[in-house]
Amino acid sequence: MLKTEEQTALDISWVRDQFPSLTQTENGRPAVFLDGPGGTQVPQRVIDAITNYLKQSNANTGGAYASSRRTDAMIAEARSAMADFMGCDSDEIVFGPNMTTLTFALSRAIGRTLGPGNEIVLTHLDHDANVSPWRALEERGVTIRFVDIDESDCTLDMADLARKVTGHTRIVCVGYASNAVGTINNVKQVVRIAHDAGALVFIDAVHYGPHGLIDVRDLGCDFLACSTYKFFGPHMGVLYGKREHLKRLQPYKVRANTDAIPNRWEWGTLNHECIAGITACVEYIADLGRHANPAAVDRRAAIIAAYEAIHAYEHSLLERMIRGLKQIPHLAIYGISDPNRLDQRCPTFAVRIEGHTPLELATKLGDRGFFTWDGNYYALNLTERLNVESTGGFLRIGLVHYNTAEEIDALLAALKEIAA
Ligand SMILES: Cc1ncc(COP(=O)(O)O)c(C=O)c1O
Repeated sequence: MLKTEEQTALDISWVRDQFPSLTQTENGRPAVFLDGPGGTQVPQRVIDAITNYLKQSNANTGGAYASSRRTDAMIAEARSAMADFMGCDSDEIVFGPNMTTLTFALSRAIGRTLGPGNEIVLTHLDHDANVSPWRALEERGVTIRFVDIDESDCTLDMADLARKVTGHTRIVCVGYASNAVGTINNVKQVVRIAHDAGALVFIDAVHYGPHGLIDVRDLGCDFLACSTYKFFGPHMGVLYGKREHLKRLQPYKVRANTDAIPNRWEWGTLNHECIAGITACVEYIADLGRHANPAAVDRRAAIIAAYEAIHAYEHSLLERMIRGLKQIPHLAIYGISDPNRLDQRCPTFAVRIEGHTPLELATKLGDRGFFTWDGNYYALNLTERLNVESTGGFLRIGLVHYNTAEEIDALLAALKEIAA
């Protein structure tokens, strides 16, 4: 870990210069991308890596010729980049089309070992991609138990989780952070509770990925999935699995897949051009870290430095947003809004304004150049639990480290005007 004294602040103009799409305008105004939770913008180097792969190395894998060999090498490089990103070894990294598909693949493989009497623990805070793949195992007689939330701040009820995890539990599936209300869960504690009961842990880190460092060894989790398009990369999913589990479980696969890991988990032809973009995306994050702390000795250290800089910068955005949102009449914030607890949330805000549907708000903001989201964003358990599903869900404003204080001030002014 790098020392805090060595840390320098995030260089926002360097950051914004990396992302060509941030200069777009909408109806004559600067476009403000507040839709990061649905997918972030990408730096130029990701676009270049995808284009260059298609120009110079486009081929299938395993062929006895140059562009195929370059493709094999490129995939190995991307795997090593993702291993540095997650804090694990390359053979524990599985690529797939997206997190949902990978989670279904994993649930089907784990499901082959489960039956009546076995239980799976899920939560009301999670995206449906960490719910439906596990609920599908009910057809095998598996029982699903749901952990509730504290409605007042949309945090996970850890006492309820501790009650629901028993000797019957085979796997606990929990999100690292909520894509709707921004809550960061204490996943390390979840791992402890689950492992004490002899259960596995699957973590959905899709929403956490752009905001916080992932360290699977430190967490001790068995599986963790994320999506590179949520952290400045191409539309792809990545699964980490502990080596012993990836070897032990029996995924459904074609005969031509070997039994070696990770190959037995990756079926058919992958999206090579996007995999080329993944290395560039990890390198962008590492360069951000090197920029913040030139003393970072290797790529993992640079990634750690990047997230320290991102965390400090996003904290200031979070404070500004919470302060401003609280001044807008008739606006309700769902999730943690106590300024002393901002470390327990991401800068992702679910709000409602009395007298306006979330769709109306998102449309009016969209016309003014602010790209936000409305609805449930597949966090369906939560919108149902909070009784907002039938009235349009929430307006979601999602900040990442390429957003600025000026963008926040402009958004707050627009919201105030729309709410009046
Ligand atoms: C928290 C969370 N989990 C899972 C997903 C699904 O990811 P993917 O689109 O890669 O399947 C999303 C997508 O929005 C998400 O926000």
